[in-house]
Order: sequence, then C-alpha cells, then structure tokens
Amino acid sequence: MEIRLTGPADHGEWLSLWNRYCADQGVGLSTKVSETIWQRIEDPDDKTKALVAVDASGVTLAFLNYIIHPYTWSDRMLCFVVDLYVDHPWRRRGIAEAMIAHLAAEGRREGWLRLYWNTDRSNERARALHDKIARLSPYLSYFLDL
Ligand SMILES: CC(C)(COP(=O)(O)OP(=O)(O)OC[C@H]1O[C@@H](n2cnc3c(N)ncnc32)[C@H](O)[C@@H]1OP(=O)(O)O)[C@@H](O)C(=O)NCCC(=O)NCCS
Repeated sequence: MEIRLTGPADHGEWLSLWNRYCADQGVGLSTKVSETIWQRIEDPDDKTKALVAVDASGVTLAFLNYIIHPYTWSDRMLCFVVDLYVDHPWRRRGIAEAMIAHLAAEGRREGWLRLYWNTDRSNERARALHDKIARLSPYLSYFLDL
C-alpha cells in the first residue's frame, strides 16, 4: 500500500469514496460543492489537500482531506484533518492509523504545531482510533451558523 497526495488521475476514485463517506456521515452535498472541494484539493495555491491510500493494483482504499492554516497562539501552522474514510473491506488493517502517521510525519518535516480534528461523540469506531493515537482536546466546539 502507498500513501500519497492526490493528483488529477485520482479524481474518479476520490469522488467515489467521497460520495460513500458523505452518505455514511448523513451529509448530502451537491455535485457542484463536491467538484469545488476537488478543485481546491488540486489547486497548488489552496491549503486544502488530500491523501489517498492506494494498493499495489491501483485500487484506492481510503482518503484523508486536510487543511493547513495559521494560528494566533503560535507562529507555526495547524493542520485540520477534516475527513477520513477507509472503504469497508479494508477496515481494521491499520490504514487510518497509517494515514494519520504519514500526515504527522509530513507535519514534523514542515514544522506544523499539531494536527487536530472533530469527531462525532457517537462515532465509537473513530473514537477508538483517536483515543489510541491522540489526546482528547480540553475544548468544546461551538457553531454559529451563517
Ligand atoms: C474510523 C475509520 C477511519 C477507522 O479506519 P481503520 O483503517 O479501520 O482504522 P485502523 O485499522 O487504522 O484502526 C486503528 C485502531 O483504531 C481502533 N479502531 C478502529 N476501528 C475500530 C472499531 N471498529 N472498533 C474498535 N476499535 C477500532 C483500534 O484501536 C485500532 O487498532 P487495532 O486494530 O490494533 O486494535 C473507519 O472505520 C471509517 O472510515 N469509518 C467511517 C468514516 C469515519 O467515521 N471517519 C472518521 C471521522 S472523524
């Protein structure tokens, strides 16, 4: 298995997994929104990026979308891990853990301060993963919808 940044040729496979992930999360996005996200991922000037895990035969097993951004409590960048999805047949093989480790290694090379992410309280699978590899934030998230 290879973990790497996406390129233009990954569009179809990323979109197919993205649609499954959105359905899984109960998020209904229009085609236009999904295409805009992909364009940002592929725009070298945008801070939205995606990793994919691809097997030896070229099948995409998983993706991880992230956004790098500045922070006021440090001169180092933060990395928001927005989405992480491993396709059903490939779960419990260490792929998600490997993708986060890959991103963390990149962040250490680039001098980022930390990775962070949100997780639904009821998502026990994801929480089991996160409890294994990271520490629980002391902060609560609030939304003011616009
Ligand atoms: C959550 C998710 C990304 C985990 O991916 P994965 O590749 O299966 O996870 P890994 O195999 O790397 O698991 C690493 C560790 O996490 C924990 N874990 C992962 N899935 C688990 C499960 N179903 N039950 C219990 N623990 C689990 C275990 O501690 C596991 O280590 P172990 O197998 O040595 O015991 C995957 O289930 C998924 O895509 N779910 C749907 C989308 C989602 O919820 N994304 C996360 C949003 S924050």
